[in-house]
Amino acid sequence: MTQPALSHDASPDLRAAFAAEVRAGLTHTPQKELPSKYLYDEVGSALFEVITVLPEYGVTRAEERLLAKHAADIVAHLPHDVTVAELGSGSGRKTRRILEALCKKRPTSYCPIEISRSALQLCRRELGDIERISIVGYERDYLAGLAEVSKQRATGERLLVLFLGSTIGNFGRLAATRFLRDIRNMLAPGDALLLGTDLIKPTPVLVAAYDDSIGVTASFNLNLLARINRELDGDFPLDAFEHVARFNPDARSIEMHLRAKRDITAHVGAAQLTVSLKAGETIWTESSHKYRAEEMPAIADDAGFVCSHQWIEEDWGFAESLLVAR
Ligand code: AVI
Repeated sequence: MTQPALSHDASPDLRAAFAAEVRAGLTHTPQKELPSKYLYDEVGSALFEVITVLPEYGVTRAEERLLAKHAADIVAHLPHDVTVAELGSGSGRKTRRILEALCKKRPTSYCPIEISRSALQLCRRELGDIERISIVGYERDYLAGLAEVSKQRATGERLLVLFLGSTIGNFGRLAATRFLRDIRNMLAPGDALLLGTDLIKPTPVLVAAYDDSIGVTASFNLNLLARINRELDGDFPLDAFEHVARFNPDARSIEMHLRAKRDITAHVGAAQLTVSLKAGETIWTESSHKYRAEEMPAIADDAGFVCSHQWIEEDWGFAESLLVAR
């Protein structure tokens, strides 16, 4: 998942939206919060790529193993003649297996949807060598991009939407179902969605995955305040915050927070904001919800899909679910 880097010369609209969301989040009571999408500027996206290869963070490798092992079987369960639309293609590494298996059968169109132009370029470089593939990138947010891909398809052509990497976990549970419903509303009956979800596992394993021993995830989290300082004329003292990852058993999610080590007052010029935190107070920056494979059929049903197949990676605990639009 890559988001655009905002800088002073970024679009004034994007900067104003960022400032407004920072203001809303940091004045939210009782819990201060910041939207996790802002973790992904250029620095944050690079740090996330490092997270995906950390020993403690098994999510990406589990999905890669699963797709490497089952790509042919997954493709065998898809409708014929699909155009592939991927929401948040990232580096494109995982997707290669599915695309190779599809292109072996017939020429295939692949439409990565990414808000970042550089991510689209990276993806083209990574996947452009696959035989019989044609890549058309959409520099849009997920739903706007999907609407366009869906509108432009030829009659009789089916759509396969890929939403991999457990990015759905970064939505709240209700928001996740709403988002799946939004996707469904852009599809025709028989179109499919391949959805990657990280599965619930013992708390110490989950906490370590989001609080690694060399501090990459801590830097990824702290970069959000650094980004506010860089782009919105903020003066957060970074050394006065520490990274916290904790499991919320009610939500079944890992929460990332930034905790003030002492009383702090900071200013964010572009948001016309002065914010104070007491020692020990936190800013909530991300939630990563974990699922049980067995709950996917009901979630799919709620969103207008049928969960027709699942492939499970047991070593780490990751599921790929194939949802078919009803
Ligand atoms: C992008 N997303 C699925 C990651 C996750 O596991 O929730 C983001 C992440 N945050 C910290 N580590 C990884």
